[in-house]
Amino acid sequence: MKVLTILGARPQFIKAAAVSRVIREEVTELIVHTGQHYDANMSDIFFEELNIPKPDYHLGIGSGNHGKQTGEMLAKIEDIILTETPDFVLVYGDTNSTLAGALAAAKLHVPIVHIEAGLRSFNKKMPEEVNRILTDHVSTLLLCPTETAIQNLTNENISAGVYNVGDVMYDAVLYNKTLAESTSTILERENLKAKEYLLITIHRAENTDDVDRMKSILDAFSQIPETKVWPIHPRTKKKLEDYGFKLDQIPNLQVIEPVGYLDMLSLETSAKKIVTDSGGVQKEAYFAEVPCVTVRDQTEWVETLIEDANILTGTDTNKIVEAVQKQVSPSYTPVFGDGKTAEKVLALLKEHSI
Ligand code: UD1
Ligand code: UDP
Repeated sequence: MKVLTILGARPQFIKAAAVSRVIREEVTELIVHTGQHYDANMSDIFFEELNIPKPDYHLGIGSGNHGKQTGEMLAKIEDIILTETPDFVLVYGDTNSTLAGALAAAKLHVPIVHIEAGLRSFNKKMPEEVNRILTDHVSTLLLCPTETAIQNLTNENISAGVYNVGDVMYDAVLYNKTLAESTSTILERENLKAKEYLLITIHRAENTDDVDRMKSILDAFSQIPETKVWPIHPRTKKKLEDYGFKLDQIPNLQVIEPVGYLDMLSLETSAKKIVTDSGGVQKEAYFAEVPCVTVRDQTEWVETLIEDANILTGTDTNKIVEAVQKQVSPSYTPVFGDGKTAEKVLALLKEHSI
């Protein structure tokens, strides 16, 4: 069986690290890296530290408007599918690389495996929502992380090929947790004391591309006296420069370059709270049992909201500050599977191969 896996963005490398290791025991996998993320600390670092197999094809597409970026990927992935004639095309999540892979495969009648199927924010202004709806509607195997995702697909009349396999990011955390504990020196390097700092990540277009929302978020950070560490996404860095916002005026804020996954796990585990708009980081906060504040209006990961484990604030300054200060003690019931998602993916690939 030959599987063509399409990767392009940081969270997809992390997910692939968990899945590729397992499926390669019984499947021939070829990896296509679209080049959507290309900085060393957004791409290469993950391949190196997580031992992700080197991509068989690197498309080098880079950044651009959605149409151009997705269109260029589509044309190149189509050529590769025609050359390689895979049994399945495997895509992760909801990025432009996901959509390009799914569209190319659908037009050539190659079955698509979508990992992280069924997630919805019900906000079609998000590029990710468009990408995931379209991908789900052309997929053959829809591998969902939660029962909510299954229900979302049922509501769209999709039932064939739908399975709850749990969350692949939980596999990734379980596999790398001990390694992160024993090797990461990020706390020492950044002079941070465990449970005495907040971890921040912001990159979602709905926030970064809206000057008022960004101002409101930064105002909240200014009002929070605790030490804050912020590995800044290149998109956010560029936007803040464009807006002329000065982060060095925010008290006790340490802005650092994006970090590798092991350093990130270490930063998450030792944080007092996490403030984010990332999908993956919301879940990792839950896995690490660290309270989270999500500066978005919706979340696809509604399970994390139980008992205020994650508080959804939007970008209202006061709501963010209040949520950060709120004392919470959630029970963190396991809702994201058993950490054996990759094994379930392999079993389903075998069951569905012709
Ligand atoms: C993309 C995904 C988003 C995902 C995120 C993970 C889409 C539409 N969005 O958002 O769902 O949550 O990845 O991090 O697919 N840039 C660099 N260097 C890089 C990569 C990006 O400088 O290596 C800068 C460029 O200015 C680029 C901007 O970041 O224009 C945005 O990059 P892009 O990949 O288009 O979207 P992300 O915001 O990263
Ligand atoms: N991450 C990382 N270094 C960072 C920031 C995030 O390794 O500096 C990891 C994080 O631990 C998670 C994933 O990247 O596994 C989340 O990716 P991101 O927030 O870029 O995208 P999203 O999940 O929102 O699509």
